Amino acid sequence: MPLKVERTLVLLKPDCVMRGLIGKVISRIEERGFSIIGLKLLKMDRSTAEKLYEEHRNKPFYEPLLRFMMSGPVVAIVVEGPSAVSAMRQMLGSTNPLDAQAGSIRADYAISNRKNIAHASDSIESAEKEINIFFKESELTSYVRPSEAAYLT
Ligand code: CMP
Repeated sequence: MPLKVERTLVLLKPDCVMRGLIGKVISRIEERGFSIIGLKLLKMDRSTAEKLYEEHRNKPFYEPLLRFMMSGPVVAIVVEGPSAVSAMRQMLGSTNPLDAQAGSIRADYAISNRKNIAHASDSIESAEKEINIFFKESELTSYVRPSEAAYLT
């Protein structure tokens, strides 16, 4: 059965930007075969951070998480390709980098479970909601990379 093409939001966190790792993470996304169909660098305000992390509102780490996410620039990326939602979560690895699978982005670049390099949507529904927080539909450009298309399904 062909894999379903999905879109997901990947957000490179301030630690990723400040440590000069934007290019490395983007390369890994491209090398896996996914298309980047939306991309922007921004500084999140409180209302944007609250929307993104709504589900964690009552958790003890919520306020420090919001402060960290507003502390510096982030890069919002819309990634498209077969099973993009689960593939990006797999590539990031577990939330706590010390539990993340060897070879995953968090295992390779992070130690802290707050400063853990990037966020990726956890379902197709959250992906749609999270993409809409950062992008208008007119800012996304869907395309298939011609040389790779035949090898992805
Ligand atoms: P992310 O994928 O962005 O989704 C929610 C974030 O909350 C998570 O990555 C972590 O950065 C953060 N988080 C989750 N659990 C903890 C924790 N126990 N302590 C600090 N931050 C956490």
